[in-house]
Amino acid sequence: MSGRAKPRYDKDGLTVHSDPNSLRRVTKALRGSGRRVTLVPTMGALHEGHRELMRRARSIPGSTTVVSLFVNPRQFGPTEDFDRYPRAFDADVEMCREEGVELVFAPDVDTMYPPGFATSIDPGPLGGELEGAVRPGHFAGMLTVVNKLFAIVAPDVAFFGEKDYQQLTLIRRMVRDLDIDVHIVGVPTVREEDGLARSSRNAYLDDVGRRASIAISAALAAGQYAGEQGPAAVVAAARGVLEAEAALDVEYVELRDPELGPTPEIGPARLLIAARAGKTRLIDNAAVSVVRRETGLSG
Ligand code: PAF
Repeated sequence: MSGRAKPRYDKDGLTVHSDPNSLRRVTKALRGSGRRVTLVPTMGALHEGHRELMRRARSIPGSTTVVSLFVNPRQFGPTEDFDRYPRAFDADVEMCREEGVELVFAPDVDTMYPPGFATSIDPGPLGGELEGAVRPGHFAGMLTVVNKLFAIVAPDVAFFGEKDYQQLTLIRRMVRDLDIDVHIVGVPTVREEDGLARSSRNAYLDDVGRRASIAISAALAAGQYAGEQGPAAVVAAARGVLEAEAALDVEYVELRDPELGPTPEIGPARLLIAARAGKTRLIDNAAVSVVRRETGLSG
C-alpha cells in the first residue's frame, strides 16, 4: 500500500479522497475507534434520490458516511452514454456537504482499473435477464465496481435505491454468495410530484418525453391495483397504460417474484418496466401483492 497520496480536497469537515489507500486508512481508523462506516455508492450527478440515501446513511447512530462519485465505464456498453453521462462534481460535493457527509471518494478511471486489470464478477443467469438482456455486460461491470468499493471502504452498511431493483437484487445476492461482511439497505424510490422516479438520466428528457414518462408510474399503479385479479391482469393493466402513450416505446413489462425469479401465482411480487422516450431509456418498478391465483399464465 502506498502512503503518499494526499486527499484532493479538504474543507469544512468534508474530505474528498481520490486514492483508495488513503481512504482505506481513514475508514480503518474509524472502525478501530468504534465508529461504524456507511457507504452510499453513486455515479455522481446527485439528485433527491441520492439525498435520501445519504440521509438514511447519516441516520445510523455512531456512523461516518462515505459517498463515492465514480462514473464506472465498465457498466456502460460500447453504444451507451458513458461519454455524455452527466457529471457535476462541484454540485455533488456541495450536496454531500449539505447532508453532513464527511468523506467522499472520487477516484480516476485509471486508479480503479489500472493497466492489466482483468477480474470481473459474474452476475449469474439473472445478469442476462431484464436489464441484462438489453445491456450485455452491464451487471458484471456494476458488481465488479461495487465489490471494489466494498473492498476499499469496508462499510458496515451500504445503501442502494430500489429504483434500480435488479441492481439491488444482484448486489444482495453477491453479498450472500461471496460472504461479504456488509449489510445492504434498499431505499424506496424518490419521485417527482407527478410520479416520475428520480434519475440522473431524466436530464436527457425533452418536453415530449418528460410528459410521456408519467405513464410509467401510472402503469405501475394500474398494475398494483390489478393484483386482485391475478398476475396476468397485473401485466395487462400496466401494458395498457403504457401502450396508450404514443411517445413511449415499451421494452418490457414483467411481473417477477421479489428476488426476480419466475412470476408468482400468488403473494408478493415485483412489477418491472423499461420503456424508451425518444432516445432516453427509463426504468421503474413497484411492489405488487397478487391476491388471486390465475390459470393459463403466459409468463
Ligand atoms: O446505481 C449506480 O449509480 C451505480 O450502478 C453504482 C451502484 C454506483 C455502481 O457504479
